[in-house]
Amino acid sequence: MTMNNDIERVLYSEADIAAAAQRIGAQLAHDYAGKTPILLSVLKGAILWTVDVMRAMDEYAEIEFIDVSSYHGGVESAGSITLKTDLTTDVKGRDIIILEDIVDTGRTLKYMIELLKQRGANSIKVASLLDKKEGRVVEIDVDYIGFDVPNEFVVGYGLDYKDLYRNLPYVGVLKPEIYTAEDTATLNGQD
Ligand code: PRP
Ligand code: MN
Ligand code: MG
Repeated sequence: MTMNNDIERVLYSEADIAAAAQRIGAQLAHDYAGKTPILLSVLKGAILWTVDVMRAMDEYAEIEFIDVSSYHGGVESAGSITLKTDLTTDVKGRDIIILEDIVDTGRTLKYMIELLKQRGANSIKVASLLDKKEGRVVEIDVDYIGFDVPNEFVVGYGLDYKDLYRNLPYVGVLKPEIYTAEDTATLNGQD
């Protein structure tokens, strides 16, 4: 058995995702020409998206990481955000591009935007592989979107179920029998 056998269907293939990373990387290089922004990658989900977008962006940029978590391994949003690892650079006066794998309720993003504003960032934009607009609980917009994803629980390319499947090269939907009974009852929030 391999991970691949747990996937019911592929939503975005490796090639689809590569094209989205190229498109957004080129757009960012254009929009941030001469600005040296900070690419702020949100651990752990945004790791693959980060490396693909950053190398498609032919412009000076710094790379930083932040670990913010709102879930505890399952499929339901816990609603409260924890700052697990802070970034190590002063963001005062800097232009920040937050890189996310998915924006669902918007809570994680709202928390980070407020934090960066408080610290005096000059500008804050968001580039997310997936935007699950139907999941929104707080009002927040994504500036650069790879794909508008339907309201389904998706894994792969950084996105996990119980910390697994992040290393699949594509984004897909898990077979229903993979979920535990307790998770099936609340299968909406994106982990
Ligand atoms: C996931 C995802 C986003 C966030 C989106 O991260 O990677 O960061 O949730 O959800 P929201 O819009 O409802 O806040 P998670 O907290 O699961 O941590 P992970 O990236 O380490 O998996
Ligand atoms: Mn995340
Ligand atoms: Mg997660």
